[in-house]
Amino acid sequence: MTKPPSGPAADALARIEAELGGALGPPPGPAELAALETACAGDPERLRRWLKRRLAGEPLAYILGWLEFRGLRFAVDSRAYITDPELTHLVDAVLNRVRTLPAAAGQGPLLAEVGVGCGSLALALKRALPAARIVGLDLHPGALALAASNASAHGLELRLVESDLFESWPADLPPPDLIYGDPPWGDAASLYAEDRPAAHYLAMPAASAFPIGGRTGVHSQILRAVAARGWASEIWLNGGILSPDELRAAAAAAPECEIVAAAPRLSLLRCRMAK
Ligand SMILES: C[S@@+](CC[C@H](N)C(=O)[O-])C[C@H]1O[C@@H](n2cnc3c(N)ncnc32)[C@H](O)[C@@H]1O
Repeated sequence: MTKPPSGPAADALARIEAELGGALGPPPGPAELAALETACAGDPERLRRWLKRRLAGEPLAYILGWLEFRGLRFAVDSRAYITDPELTHLVDAVLNRVRTLPAAAGQGPLLAEVGVGCGSLALALKRALPAARIVGLDLHPGALALAASNASAHGLELRLVESDLFESWPADLPPPDLIYGDPPWGDAASLYAEDRPAAHYLAMPAASAFPIGGRTGVHSQILRAVAARGWASEIWLNGGILSPDELRAAAAAAPECEIVAAAPRLSLLRCRMAK
């Protein structure tokens, strides 16, 4: 039998529930209660305020002001998407691939993250591949400001550019060796419902969570933009729980395309648009 959660956060939750006459909707689980309790460091008023925010559907990471990804802590707030933990598989795939790329004389590989958000993926990669040059592109200046402060907090270098896809790609750089990213994908039917209900995504900047142009619309736009530039970069994009057929259709124009099942609920799309 599972023991009900106990401790100050569980007690505060029970009090709120009693005051409001029960039926609060799904309560935070034991791990979330523990995180809130630790972050509130014995301040019962703050704990109560933060619990109420959580009960109203605000994502835990926005309340705490940080998220953890691959053992690193990153500042995050409502200016940026909350990195999905399963994206660790995309980072592993990129790491494995970059380690096999032929080294250019005197220079590390050039990587581009399309949709860098708070910088979590790019900084995890930079930490593992110190020689890599990484450019993070994003539509949102607020997300880029967070990525810049996360880079500086970790003492890691990223080049950050406010850009619609590759429109503002730095003129002093050649095409990237490898492009990767977690473009917004799916629709209301493709939620990770257990711990990430609709409210989780609705709290985030709309363009970070919802694709423009259909479930794979941003994937197609990225691939078309790379093709239009004639770049031969290898491309790795998260496809989440979208079906291989749907992802393959989005990449129909790619001369080279493969769907990699990286984890039970995570497909990656690997493509090249030019030789
Ligand atoms: C699902 S979020 C992923 C963010 C980050 N990679 C992470 O995992 O935390 C998608 C990101 O793509 C960005 N984005 C969406 N459309 C874009 C576009 N046309 N050009 C550049 N960035 C875009 C969003 O602002 C958002 O930061």
